[in-house]
Amino acid sequence: MSGGRIVVAGLTKQYKELRAVDNLSFNVEPGRITGFLGPNGAGKTTTLRMLLGLVKPTAGTATLDGQRYADLKDPLRHVGAVLEASSAHKGRSGINQLRVICAAAGLPRGRADEVLALVGLTPAAKRKFKGYSLGMRQRLGIAAAMLGDPRVLILDEPANGLDPEGIRWMRDLLKGLAAEGRTVLVSSHLLSEMELLADDLVIIAAGKLIRQGPLAEVMDSMGDIGTVRVRTPQAEAFAKQLTEQGATVTPAEGGLLRVSGLDAPAVGRAALAGQVELHELTTERPDLERVFLELTAGKAGIR
Ligand SMILES: Nc1ncnc2c1ncn2[C@@H]1O[C@H](COP(=O)(O)OP(=O)(O)OP(=O)(O)O)[C@@H](O)[C@H]1O
Ligand SMILES: [Mg+2]
Repeated sequence: MSGGRIVVAGLTKQYKELRAVDNLSFNVEPGRITGFLGPNGAGKTTTLRMLLGLVKPTAGTATLDGQRYADLKDPLRHVGAVLEASSAHKGRSGINQLRVICAAAGLPRGRADEVLALVGLTPAAKRKFKGYSLGMRQRLGIAAAMLGDPRVLILDEPANGLDPEGIRWMRDLLKGLAAEGRTVLVSSHLLSEMELLADDLVIIAAGKLIRQGPLAEVMDSMGDIGTVRVRTPQAEAFAKQLTEQGATVTPAEGGLLRVSGLDAPAVGRAALAGQVELHELTTERPDLERVFLELTAGKAGIR
């Protein structure tokens, strides 16, 4: 599989007073899962809709291998998208829903059965869409997106409504698709899930880019918000000493101290200088939720 690179350059969407997306630029690479993150109202859905030619940009471009979505000859074979569950015909069965899309797009009818099996919906194939649960609707949306066997998959909050087993299933599916060389761009608010899923991150707030890069780099760039865990039988005295050196110390049970504002080597040196006996000294990496909140702090989501 080749191609599938998404380039967003200077993308802007102005709605009357509100600049929903503001001069946004980022790249999405094939063979990787890119997590698209931002507070509510940050402009994620608007960006994805511009990428799919559903919203006209005020300025800038979003292209796939240099082409705008509207200029793609056979869009379903290039890009599959799941924007929100249930723009479906309520009285139709799941399988018929997919067959209608196949017919309209000139895809072989049997493809509907294949993608239904891919998302584990075969047992419910003939049931009417209106009787589908939220998670089943999400799965049907993913099935529809996969009909054209696209190189690029764009998913807006795909984990909505999925149970833990469903979330794991989705993670495995998306990782498998990326491993085949496809481009996977996925927005989500489930940061612990994103931490397991994404290779790269694009973080926006108030329509603007905050950070982009490999997950590990984004996490490491915030290394200084990590805390140091230290355990000592002289907790009280050591806490006082560290506080005097400018650290913030939160004591816990059993002689445990959580120290921020000093790194582990500095805490170790302080212990040596103060002749403090240490039973534990580790750096706790911040999780993605902490990094995200730190990066987007004060950049109000809802405008
Ligand atoms: N058609 C529209 N007309 C006016 N304002 C709009 C329109 N579509 C979106 N907006 C506004 O643009 C901003 C960005 O919305 P968008 O849906 O892109 O955010 P989001 O990042 O997807 O948020 P969420 O995490 O809640 O899904 C919001 O303030 C929203 O109200
Ligand atoms: Mg949205």
